Amino acid sequence: MKAADVVDAVIEAPVVTSFTRVGFAVRKRLENWTSLEEYDLNGQVVVLTGATSGLGRAAATQLARCGATLVLVGRNADRNETTVAEMIVSTGNDAITQVAADIGDYDQVRTLAERVLNDHDRLDVLIHNAGALTNERHDAPDGTEATVASQVVGPFLLTGLLLERLAGSAPSRVLTMSSGGMYTAALTISELEMSADDYKGAEQYARAKRAQVALNELWAQRFGHLGIRFHALHPGWADTPGVDAALPTFSKVMGPLLRTAEQGADTLVWLAADDTPLESNGQFWLDRRQRNIHKLRSTRNSDTADRRERIWNWVAETSGFHPAAPAQPESS
Ligand SMILES: NC(=O)c1ccc[n+]([C@@H]2O[C@H](COP(=O)([O-])OP(=O)(O)OC[C@H]3O[C@@H](n4cnc5c(N)ncnc54)[C@H](OP(=O)(O)O)[C@@H]3O)[C@@H](O)[C@H]2O)c1
Repeated sequence: MKAADVVDAVIEAPVVTSFTRVGFAVRKRLENWTSLEEYDLNGQVVVLTGATSGLGRAAATQLARCGATLVLVGRNADRNETTVAEMIVSTGNDAITQVAADIGDYDQVRTLAERVLNDHDRLDVLIHNAGALTNERHDAPDGTEATVASQVVGPFLLTGLLLERLAGSAPSRVLTMSSGGMYTAALTISELEMSADDYKGAEQYARAKRAQVALNELWAQRFGHLGIRFHALHPGWADTPGVDAALPTFSKVMGPLLRTAEQGADTLVWLAADDTPLESNGQFWLDRRQRNIHKLRSTRNSDTADRRERIWNWVAETSGFHPAAPAQPESS
């Protein structure tokens, strides 16, 4: 075992060291990470949801610096346009456009997919980053609980609608920003959506993030043969407007230990750019390393093949889209 492996194992066990800027700094130094500035993504098309703030904005900025052609997605067209304009100035990359879409609104997801397919003849990286922990329960337009709609069903639909274009651009990547919060949550289908009576934002969020990770593995198993790599990750704990709004006490107490948005986004950019993630499929990552998806026996026991199958079917049914592999990948 290398020294870096030993130290990584020691700091991974207690989440406070692993998830904070301590874990990031130790791993980065010990493992001599390639600088993100070194990646050349010229000619590669990247669609990134949740790009106006926090981790998504930090990742998009770095991807733009690497030369990627970017499609930024957020809910508000004016906010998106401002983000695009600022990013063009700060990175010097003018191949950045935006589409306004709420990922929890499936009609808007369909329109988003149409725009991407019309405007780009290839798609190298699709990043599902949009997400929020909301302390009050909301319904999406179809009546699904909004966290589940925007972080489980909507991303599934978007991947499905863009599958052929991803296959035609292989090796391509679909990346999903989950959360370390999912370690506390069992995989559940009957209780995936919490009712108004027992709604707890943090728990609802963790259940949705757990479902994301299970679906990531299923996508890899079912569509990996098309040359598409599906990976999920968690960013540790990063200081972002989202964390500040959803968890103000946590944000205040942990303040000095939280990662910067750039540190939280590092592995996302690395998964989009490095060759290492092309060597595996369906993995879960933190700080450029594959991680177990369970830390507790109870959640591991909940994560059965039967439950995964039922979640896949429920999400497909809810989204109105049943993905099938294209007969032949599109030629690029
Ligand atoms: N920060 C952390 O420590 C942390 C830890 C674990 C996981 N995460 C995950 O990382 C991702 C980014 O979080 P963040 O902390 O950077 O949050 P943030 O600062 O609140 O940014 C969230 C982004 O998502 C967009 N968004 C939210 N809901 C959306 C929807 N329904 N449709 C389209 N866009 C939507 C927002 O854009 P508009 O408001 O402009 O629409 C914004 O750009 C989330 O998936 C979050 O769960 C973060």
